Amino acid sequence: MTKRLLTLDVNGAERTVACPGNAILLDVLREDLHLTGTKRGCDMGTCGCCTVIVDGEARLSCLTLAHASAGRKITTIEGLRSETGGLTPVQEAYAGCGGSQCGFCTPGFIMTTTALLGRNAQPSDAEVREALSGNLCRCTGYVKIFDAVHTAARELRVVRDEPGEVYEGTQVAPKGRRKEVAP
Ligand code: FES
Ligand code: FES
Repeated sequence: MTKRLLTLDVNGAERTVACPGNAILLDVLREDLHLTGTKRGCDMGTCGCCTVIVDGEARLSCLTLAHASAGRKITTIEGLRSETGGLTPVQEAYAGCGGSQCGFCTPGFIMTTTALLGRNAQPSDAEVREALSGNLCRCTGYVKIFDAVHTAARELRVVRDEPGEVYEGTQVAPKGRRKEVAP
């Protein structure tokens, strides 16, 4: 099939590739841009391993046409970092709570969680479970993952009224300026 040039905004940078009109975003990210943090699991929309954030929403890159993603802001797991270059609160929470074991599902969970907390700073347990219902994990049993999401949400709530690092629409202050709030 004829290839067409495609420019994507990935992790804050314009990346141009040549790919067929029916190319899948997951393939472009992994094979053309070498962003292999986005995992290929089922390749049919049922595992959530391939989740990326597109214009602030979690999207399954295995079900997304690459050319349909032009002009949108795409964030992969490689694009997550605080302004100081460290882990985001979501990443810290997954690590601290034991929400990752083999790690294969973890990028997808972290991207889904990041999108969730970007639009809902205080999700209920039901909302967390609903948001993560499309992400499958064979290792953790999910309890530590749900703990990680609530831990990250609490951490973000602590600082949401403070100026500081901006990450996916949520303000995150440097640790030294954090204040304690009730869970
Ligand atoms: S690889 Fe996309 S949902 Fe499984
Ligand atoms: S940590 Fe192994 S599949 Fe989730």
